[in-house]
Amino acid sequence: MNEQMQAETRVGIEALGLYVPRYYVSLNELAAVRGVDPNKFAVGIGQELMAVPAPDEDVVTLGANAALEALEQVDRSQIDTLIFATESGVDQSKAAAIYTHHLLDLPRRCKSFEVKQACCGSTAALQMALAMVAQKPTRKVLIIAADVARYGLGTAGEPTQGAGALAMVVSSQPRIMAFDSEWGSYTEDVMDFWRPNYLDEAVVDGKYSIKVYLKALAESWAQYAEESGFDHADHSRFCYHLPFTRMAEKAHRQLAKLNGLEVSDDTQIEEGLRYNRIIGNSYTASLYIGLTSLLEGTTEDLTGHRVGMFSYGSGCMAAYFSGVVLPGYRTHLRPNRRVEQFETRVPLTVEAYEAFYQHELPRDGSRYLTPQHETGHFRLSGVQDHKRLYERASRSAKAAPAHAAQDVALAG
Ligand code: HMG
Repeated sequence: MNEQMQAETRVGIEALGLYVPRYYVSLNELAAVRGVDPNKFAVGIGQELMAVPAPDEDVVTLGANAALEALEQVDRSQIDTLIFATESGVDQSKAAAIYTHHLLDLPRRCKSFEVKQACCGSTAALQMALAMVAQKPTRKVLIIAADVARYGLGTAGEPTQGAGALAMVVSSQPRIMAFDSEWGSYTEDVMDFWRPNYLDEAVVDGKYSIKVYLKALAESWAQYAEESGFDHADHSRFCYHLPFTRMAEKAHRQLAKLNGLEVSDDTQIEEGLRYNRIIGNSYTASLYIGLTSLLEGTTEDLTGHRVGMFSYGSGCMAAYFSGVVLPGYRTHLRPNRRVEQFETRVPLTVEAYEAFYQHELPRDGSRYLTPQHETGHFRLSGVQDHKRLYERASRSAKAAPAHAAQDVALAG
């Protein structure tokens, strides 16, 4: 293939958007209340803060907020397809994508649907988007990955919760990253983490899930390396699915070992861990929030550098793939907005976090208005006749943590 044809078929990320809930809880405080040594969470798990969605936020509002940023630089009338990846969907039939399509005022001709395979759903969406754009290069596909990670209060999984959303526009005019065409994949029917329809929290065999994650990494890397001909040294940075940042350190060590390296170089992953350390697991969004953290946080110019990426979804399906950072990528990123997003978040006491966690919407079809908390541009205003009601938020709500908890207690 000559250079001109390669340029014509290059497909990748044209724009990115990231959104995190406005509230968080400190894992030091959680450790104190749970009677755990704080270093277990800070060092053993590698997490500092955990994003907590307000009762008037869900994956639709999280995702719409992230997409708003991604669409700032793109003509939204050109969006051909919206793929919403989540494992914390709000309806068994109607896709979160349809609500989001409406909130974002996307064209009626834009196809909109939801995909699921645990944390790997976003990567399945990406593969689909790459194929759709390669088939018709004028297409632009908006991928939204949004999730709320929930385990039981007081369980081993609790400090690995979190929430967030990442949106990306995939097109044949990539400005941030172009993806390589060779991928490695791995599927195996395992019960490491799952959530039956009747539960709001995941069931997890934590230690086993780590083993399966590492096995899936070895298997998908092997196929990727075989088919692409790339070796470890062809990659300047590595991003991993991040249930917690310590997992990436374990994975990076294993990848080094698989490639005959005696030590792994943590500087190849560390900038990619920064956002997740203060957000927590965001399931489908987590790998791509890690990529955003890397690209926005690295002082070195990464133009032309290849980034290796590992996506893992429990159950399980995994993928290994890579992309090359494009010239001028920095002008299309928003590191300053991230500083603002993170620095203006509101800390919750553990008690207020638990009240948020326990908030439930009525299940009998009655009308209920959700108390207004701090959100992004969209909020879940309530439910009526089993229908979810969304609205643009005024952004005037400034609920203090104690007040937030009280609202929820009253609402319940
Ligand atoms: P646990 O039982 O609390 O942890 O569960 P532990 O006792 O094994 O301790 C964790 C680490 O902290 C250990 O280090 C301890 O030594 C260390 P390691 O052996 O791993 O090197 N530690 C300390 N370090 C410093 N100072 C101390 C101290 N005490 C202990 N004082 C577990 C941990 C991650 C299993 C739990 O939180 C969990 O079940 N989380 C949820 C599952 C999960 O995240 N799995 C990851 C792989 S699966 C995946 O990524 C998919 C997922 O995102 C879902 C999807 O695909 O949709 C989860």
